[in-house]
This record gives sequence, C-alpha cells and structure tokens, in this order.
Amino acid sequence: MNSLWSWWVIIGTVVSIIACVWLIVFTNRQRASKEEIVESEAHVWDEDIRELNNPLPMWWLWLFILTIIWSVGYLIYYPGLGTFSGTSEWSQEGQYDAEVAAAEARYGPIFAKYGAMEVTDLVNDPDALSIGASLFANYCSQCHGSGALGARGFPNLTDDDWLYGGSPAQIEQSIMSGRTGIMPPLGAVFASDEALNEMVSYVQAMPDGMDTSSPAHTQYMTLCIACHGADGSGMQALGAPNLTDDIWLYSSSPQQIRKTIVEGRTGAMPAHGHLIGPDRARVLAAYVYSLSQ
Ligand code: HEC
Ligand code: HEC
Repeated sequence: MNSLWSWWVIIGTVVSIIACVWLIVFTNRQRASKEEIVESEAHVWDEDIRELNNPLPMWWLWLFILTIIWSVGYLIYYPGLGTFSGTSEWSQEGQYDAEVAAAEARYGPIFAKYGAMEVTDLVNDPDALSIGASLFANYCSQCHGSGALGARGFPNLTDDDWLYGGSPAQIEQSIMSGRTGIMPPLGAVFASDEALNEMVSYVQAMPDGMDTSSPAHTQYMTLCIACHGADGSGMQALGAPNLTDDIWLYSSSPQQIRKTIVEGRTGAMPAHGHLIGPDRARVLAAYVYSLSQ
C-alpha cells in the first residue's frame, strides 16, 4: 500500500470515529424534555401507534461509547490504520508462521521417525498408514480422487498398473520430484484420415493382441515403438503407458484415442518434495504402495 492510500485509510477511519463521537454528543444535547415528549404526537398511525421522541436508553448509549473506546484501543494495538502496524506487531503471516512452527515441533519428530523407516516396514504400521491416508486426502485427492481411483488423465493408484513403476523408490520419486509424460502430437504423420482411423482401431484392439496383418501395425513399428515398445507394453522411464492391458489413462473410446494421437498429451504430476518434505513423502509412498498390494 503506498503512503497516499495509507493516509486515505487513516483519515477515513479517524474521521468516522470522530463523527460517531460527535453524533452521541449532538443527540444528547438535543434530548427532549418530558413535556416535549408528550406533545410530540404528530405522528400517529393506524389510530393508536404513536411515534414518540424518547431519548436512547442509557445502556444502549454506553454500548455505543464502549464500541468507540474499543475501536480506538484496537487500532492502536492491531494493524488497521493504513500501514501503521500496531503496537502488537501482529500479522497474518506471523501468525501462520507461528502455527506452522508449532505443528512442526509437534509432528516433526513423528514424521522424522517414519522418514527413517523403510516403506516395506511402514506398510505394516497402521498408524503410519492412517496418517498417510489423511495426508493423501489433503495433498493428492483433488487429482487422484479420495479413494485414489483416479479419473481421465489422472492415474488410478490402487491397481498394479504403473506409468512410472510401482516399487517403493519409484513411487517416492513420483511424489518428491513429480513426473511429466509427453505423448507427442502425431496427427501430421498420417498420410490420410483412413490411415489415422486404422491406427485408432489398431490401438483400441491392442489389449486383444496386436494385429500384425494391419497396415497400422507397420506404422506402429516405426512411429510408436520407441516409447510404447515392440510388444506395446510401454516404457516406465518415459511414462509411456502399456497399451495392451486394457487400463486406459484417457479412456478407450475411439474419440479419445484419436485425440491422443493427433494432439498429443502432457500428463503432469507436480513435484511435492518442496511442499511436504522427504519424511511425509515416505509416509505417502507407503500409503500409496499399500493400496496396490
Ligand atoms: C495436480 C494434480 C495432481 C496432484 C495434486 C497429485 N498428482 Fe499424482 N499424478 C498426477 C498426474 C496427472 C499423474 C500422471 C502423470 C502422467 O500422465 O505422466 C500423476 C502420477 C502419479 C504417480 C505415478 C503413477 C504411476 O502410474 O506411475 C504417483 C505415484 C502419484 N501421482 C502420487 C501422488 C501423490 C501421493 C500425490 C499427493 C502428494 C499426488 N500424486 C498429487 C496428478 C496429480
Ligand atoms: C516420444 C514417446 C512417444 C511416442 C513416439 C508415442 N507415444 Fe503414445 N504416449 C507417450 C506417453 C509418455 C504417453 C502418456 C501421456 C501422459 O502421461 O499424459 C502416451 C500415451 C498414449 C496413449 C494413451 C494411453 C491411455 O492409457 O490412455 C495412446 C493411445 C498412445 N500414446 C498411442 C500412441 C501411438 C498410437 C503412437 C504412435 C503413432 C504413440 N503413442 C507414440 C509417449 C509416446
């Protein structure tokens, strides 16, 4: 906030408080006498509803005065007047940092203990797994689903089919460093729409066996083999899916397969290492590993 806006806020706030004080003083000076109250029967509605000019009850007036005193104290103690930070030096960031530090002091040792254990041991520790489940709900479920069953473009983590490998170390690496799977757009490579459609049908039928008599097979062997393998079983180093197992990252419909081939795909698992640290990642790896066992 620049100083102009800061003064704008300060002046606006102080003037409103002064206006409130003035309002109380002014209305108290105008207090009507008993006779005036009785006389002021000019406004009568529905025959017997009369508007009187009674003074404010004293308790109400005191509440009003108290809120003004409170606001002055508050604005001295807490930040509120422009860029003036208040005598308490309180800030949202400071409170957040203090809460994070307190949580770290409390849970840090627990996670450090788990971080020193092997994933294969952690999967037998029900406490570690239940902590893993709640970490998963916090950090992972928005993409992989609360039950880790995934969705289109987001892999199911409960089956034993892995883009990047299902060993504890591979899962941990997926979590810590993230993964990016790049399927290049290959639409321009096909000479005709028929050739493209043949490839789509060929890929769709791959789980039933590769049709070596199809012209698309020859194309597969030149265009796709480098990443998806000669037998179609994929390549974990690249995150290229196994195309023969009938488990689909982007669905088995001809439209989606065609879209994948023509436009390419870029699946991105964001790195979580800087966010959660290695100990929590170990607990999460154990939880994810346990899901597929
Ligand atoms: C922003 C969405 C997003 C979030 C959040 C996310 N993931 Fe992922 N994750 C993905 C995507 C997309 C992929 C697949 C990447 C690809 O297609 O190459 C993936 C892949 C993975 C893989 C590799 C799966 C395989 O088959 O090899 C694992 C393991 C994984 N995620 C675990 C997690 C865990 C644990 C968390 C929570 C810490 C998490 N993910 C959070 C989107 C996400
Ligand atoms: C440079 C490596 C590479 C080449 C070449 C390649 N792919 Fe891919 N393909 C991938 C990767 C990586 C993915 C996963 C993309 C992701 O994670 O988002 C993928 C995904 C796919 C999918 C989606 C699978 C699913 O489970 O939904 C299909 C279908 C596919 N490729 C078919 C092909 C075909 C057909 C060819 C040849 C015409 C081909 N790919 C060539 C790397 C490649």
